[in-house]
Amino acid sequence: MSQIRFDGKTVIVTGGGGGLGSAHAKLFAARGANVVVNDLGGDVTGGGQGTSMADKVVEAIRAAGGKAIASYESVTEMSSAQAIIETAKKAFGGVHILINNAGILRDTSFKNMTEDDWDAVFKVHVKGAFCMSKAAWDTMREQNYGRIIMTSSAAGIYGNFGQANYSAAKMALVGFGQTLALEGLKNNVLTNIICPVAASRMTETILPPEVLAKLNPGSVSALVAYLCSDQSTENGSVFEAGAGRYVHIKWASGAGYRSPATDGLATIEEIRDHFAAIKDLSRPKLMNGISDSLNAFMA
Ligand SMILES: NC(=O)c1ccc[n+]([C@@H]2O[C@H](COP(=O)([O-])OP(=O)(O)OC[C@H]3O[C@@H](n4cnc5c(N)ncnc54)[C@H](O)[C@@H]3O)[C@@H](O)[C@H]2O)c1
Repeated sequence: MSQIRFDGKTVIVTGGGGGLGSAHAKLFAARGANVVVNDLGGDVTGGGQGTSMADKVVEAIRAAGGKAIASYESVTEMSSAQAIIETAKKAFGGVHILINNAGILRDTSFKNMTEDDWDAVFKVHVKGAFCMSKAAWDTMREQNYGRIIMTSSAAGIYGNFGQANYSAAKMALVGFGQTLALEGLKNNVLTNIICPVAASRMTETILPPEVLAKLNPGSVSALVAYLCSDQSTENGSVFEAGAGRYVHIKWASGAGYRSPATDGLATIEEIRDHFAAIKDLSRPKLMNGISDSLNAFMA
């Protein structure tokens, strides 16, 4: 089989100076892409900024013979997102692939979580992905080509202690990505969502060294690159990836319980008496979209 390449394609990787972002950027560049390595260069909680994180990745890509340029803007404002897109266009003449990867953590129990902890996390993950996708959207639609990746997390899908803000933001990216997948399809703008597991400064304090040693971020990058390649038509899907394991995640619905009440108004006691049926997932049906859900209600 032919090698998958990205010659002539311009890729923007937000948070491209970090663990996962730098692995994505290096892989795309190694396969011929023009890469914009965007990174604000702050700490893991979103404090500070600097140029060295993006610069280091750009230097490594260039040293390996690849094409890359650094951008140090924050993804969190529309004006800076537009500036990042302009950087790509000026340096490489276009933008084809957007990897929304920038992220921060403000982990704490919900009891101790402040409004600022909530807002800061939403601003980078959700508003950042919005600003970048919005800034790239018209260009991708007009050229009838675009690939967008949202970086979600198992914390969003399943919840995680101490990550109420992060979990909520990461789940927001699933809904956002699935909607962009629907709206972009007719212009060949495909969006998928990944839930990675990788060694990085985000995980180095919570996972033991022997586990981290198995979590090379490059393992995630292979799936990201495939989903963004010309050889993939995948759209609107959610994947977990890490340590060489790749899994499709999908919602499933049980058969449920339907009240015989002609007005649809079940009593509380009816819910109690049929709660086992409501919860039963012994015959799960995979849900392919909102129409599957609506049709089940209307049946
Ligand atoms: N490492 C994991 O196991 C894991 C698991 C699930 C999800 N994720 C997600 O993957 C993404 C990458 O995380 P990572 O593990 O590589 O951590 P990381 O901290 O190494 O990378 C995140 C990068 O984003 C940059 N960044 C932060 N705010 C920014 C902003 N406003 N504008 C531009 N850049 C900004 C940071 O400087 C950093 O380089 C994040 O979205 C994270 O939530 C990681």
